[in-house]
Amino acid sequence: MTRILVRGGTVVSATGSQPLDVIIDGDTVAAVLRPGSAVLGADPAASVDTVIEAAGKYVLPGGVDGHTHMQMPFGGTEASDTFETGTRAAAFGGTTTIVDFAVQKPGVRVQDSIAAWHDKAAGNCAIDYGFHQIVGDVNDESLKGMAELVAEGVTSFKLFMAYPGVFYSDDGQILRAMQTSAELGALLMMHAENGIAIDVLVAQALRRGDTAPYYHGTTRPWQLEEEATHRAIMLAQVTGAPLYVVHVSAKQALEQIVQARSKGQNVFGETCPQYLYLSLEEQLGAPGFEGAKWVCSTPLRSRAEGHQDELWRYLRTGGVTTVATDHCPFCMKDQKDMGVGDFSKIPNGIGGVEHRMDLMFQGVVDGRLSLERWVDVCCTTPARMFGMYPRKGVISPGADADIVVYDPNGHTSIGVGKTHHMNMDYSAYEGFEIDGHVDTVLSRGRVIVDGGRYLGRPGDGRFLERGLSQNLL
Ligand code: URP
Ligand code: ZN
Ligand code: ZN
Repeated sequence: MTRILVRGGTVVSATGSQPLDVIIDGDTVAAVLRPGSAVLGADPAASVDTVIEAAGKYVLPGGVDGHTHMQMPFGGTEASDTFETGTRAAAFGGTTTIVDFAVQKPGVRVQDSIAAWHDKAAGNCAIDYGFHQIVGDVNDESLKGMAELVAEGVTSFKLFMAYPGVFYSDDGQILRAMQTSAELGALLMMHAENGIAIDVLVAQALRRGDTAPYYHGTTRPWQLEEEATHRAIMLAQVTGAPLYVVHVSAKQALEQIVQARSKGQNVFGETCPQYLYLSLEEQLGAPGFEGAKWVCSTPLRSRAEGHQDELWRYLRTGGVTTVATDHCPFCMKDQKDMGVGDFSKIPNGIGGVEHRMDLMFQGVVDGRLSLERWVDVCCTTPARMFGMYPRKGVISPGADADIVVYDPNGHTSIGVGKTHHMNMDYSAYEGFEIDGHVDTVLSRGRVIVDGGRYLGRPGDGRFLERGLSQNLL
């Protein structure tokens, strides 16, 4: 077994930061020691195969992105990153675990949907991966299937209050799926937007001739996110299901979540870098068809209404539980451009799996969150939320040696032709400058990225059988 010493760095965890050396033995962390510890002997390098020098750098647990859609069929096309390209891009950005969504289409068994996602991912991933299951057809058979999936390590299920005719579930279906989730102890994930009302607003906008990407945002007002979030919380309360609301972008929706949790209900909120940094006015409102790059749901919100600042505040103070990317990339050419002249035909989704750790580190540099909270929301709490802790999300003896050496004095310029490895013909964060840099990434003890070079292979990543959530109240 290969032994590696990561020497001289500051190990950052969700609870503190201190100078520590890390010894890796094969796949896992063997020890975390004070520098100069007698355990390493007079010549520490002599007892290991490789030394990674981390002086002046942060040493963190690999990032855990709990919300991705690799090669997902959606919006009349398919998300442009495969499991191979998307997980490699994730690795470049310091993410060593993803949880992707298997999709159940109406008429297909959930067991067959998960099998199809195993086929897509197996042998192709650069990093470890788990699956959530989208239940697109709530019926007796799929409710029974949920129990089988939990036994196979797929312990969370996503429903949609949006996208009527595609993934949409009505309140009765949601209630039934929540009852099953509650019985199983499984996490119920919700896309909380009132899709029925949104579709009326969309049809009215198109009839008025409001066809530009900007109107994707105005036809999905925050009230319809707040209303759906509130309804989901009430249904979860009736059933006792633990609820995780995905891609929250409206400050009012977060208020609903925070209030419910403060009353003792298991309700959690995820946000994404796009909702912290980007806006309706600046991005969706870009001239011509440019705004299509940022069409996603929930939509980017108005900066004038103060959503972004409030999301940062909730992130700092614990109201937001995790930061994921909702990585769902589409190219402008032949994909987003299907919606020229009709914003409702633009495939919904933004790619960002490569940049989450950097973008959130910039929040640390800007004084918006602490170093420890960065690791907490990007690594440790997602691992706990989705039943992977302490194997993932922490650097401690016995944990998988998924480790990132991060240089706070380095620099990262985001953009196509710069640090872009995702299979997209544009970057949603083009021109962003980050005051930090992912230097070295280890996945289960193997260096897969170093100094901007990819050293891994497709198939390095393995499927993770997850347990039930470890983050419940
Ligand atoms: O616009 C988005 N979010 N696309 C991906 C599918 C989803 O709703 O998460
Ligand atoms: Zn969604
Ligand atoms: Zn999503």
